[in-house]
Amino acid sequence: PPLEEILSLHDFEAVARRTMGKRGWNYYSSGADDEITMRENHNAYHRVWFRPRILRNVGTVDYSSTILGHKTSMPVYITATALGKLGHPEGEVTLTRAAGKHNVIQMIPTLASCSFDEMVDAAIPNQVQFLQLYVNADRSRTKKIIKHAAERGVKALFITVDAPQLGRREKDMRTKFVGNASSQQTQGGDNFKRDQGAARAISSFIDPSLNWNDLAELKEAAGEMKVILKGVQCWEDAVMAAEYGCDGVVLSNHGGRQLDFAPSPLTILPQVVSILKQRGYMTPSRPFEVFIDGGVRRATDVLKAIALGATAVGIGRPMIYAMSTFGEEGVSRAFEILKDEFEMNMRLIGAPTLADVVPNMVDISSLNAA
Ligand code: FNR
Repeated sequence: PPLEEILSLHDFEAVARRTMGKRGWNYYSSGADDEITMRENHNAYHRVWFRPRILRNVGTVDYSSTILGHKTSMPVYITATALGKLGHPEGEVTLTRAAGKHNVIQMIPTLASCSFDEMVDAAIPNQVQFLQLYVNADRSRTKKIIKHAAERGVKALFITVDAPQLGRREKDMRTKFVGNASSQQTQGGDNFKRDQGAARAISSFIDPSLNWNDLAELKEAAGEMKVILKGVQCWEDAVMAAEYGCDGVVLSNHGGRQLDFAPSPLTILPQVVSILKQRGYMTPSRPFEVFIDGGVRRATDVLKAIALGATAVGIGRPMIYAMSTFGEEGVSRAFEILKDEFEMNMRLIGAPTLADVVPNMVDISSLNAA
């Protein structure tokens, strides 16, 4: 279908399913085991309802946001997804360009198909990029990546902590991996397990011995860059991240691709935020930002997360489906759709700015009910 007929982020997925190559579709769309967590990521949003307010002068609405000190057009960022060339011959630079055009932050994946420098070079002046970091067993390699990222102006490191081993994604494992991960970590004699799908092929780059004691060293290497843990799944670890001096966490189950029956980030968000605040974090004197990702497809999803205390929300699959089906223009269209949805839904809930999207704008009484 022509791009103008794409009306929602769901539509990109429907087109991708029909038109993408099998290898790419199986890698992008799969979740771990029975995909219960992957589905729950969506379902959890269906258990939160708005408490709309009236007569609040929504003549103009402003959904611009600030993420880790950087102004963005909306409280959404492109989260890291590996192997972009399985979906589009130009790979992740298409995301970079659309993000630049729409003032959205891109999180560069360690295991991208394009090289790190290609993605930085594709950015416009002052475009903000973050880096998702898989920590390699060879720490000197990881430190080199961190140092290079700092030199190239990356503003924050998102250390992925939910993948000491990559999950079993059976759909993906049924297709053999013909690799095109060209990034730093994949070069240099690693042992590719090519016969079991893309995920297994790249899993050998991740160090399962990574632990809290490694953080000081990584933080020091990061220098001025902020450090956020991506893949936190309970309040205890969010508190530990704050105590270890991190600048934030992403509540995430990796899009349901790791531990099946991990909880949806939305269901733990209220408790995480409330306990962090009780302990004095998330205040002007001790800033700490909480992000979530997984299952976000609508601005209403994002607004629910904002109401419950998230700074912003990461979007994964819809971006790579948009890229795979319509390239850079598709990704741009995805941002336009989200912007339209923000404008309309903020009017309808009675919130002229994101600061007005407060906890009592949502009803979470069924979120964690049996
Ligand atoms: C991912 N994700 C991911 N995360 C990460 O830290 N490093 C990575 O290399 C990848 N790779 C990756 C590939 C693909 C195909 C997907 C779908 C996801 C997880 C990603 O950052 C994010 O947590 C989820 O994608 C969020 O869920 P949705 O938006 O895809 O539902």
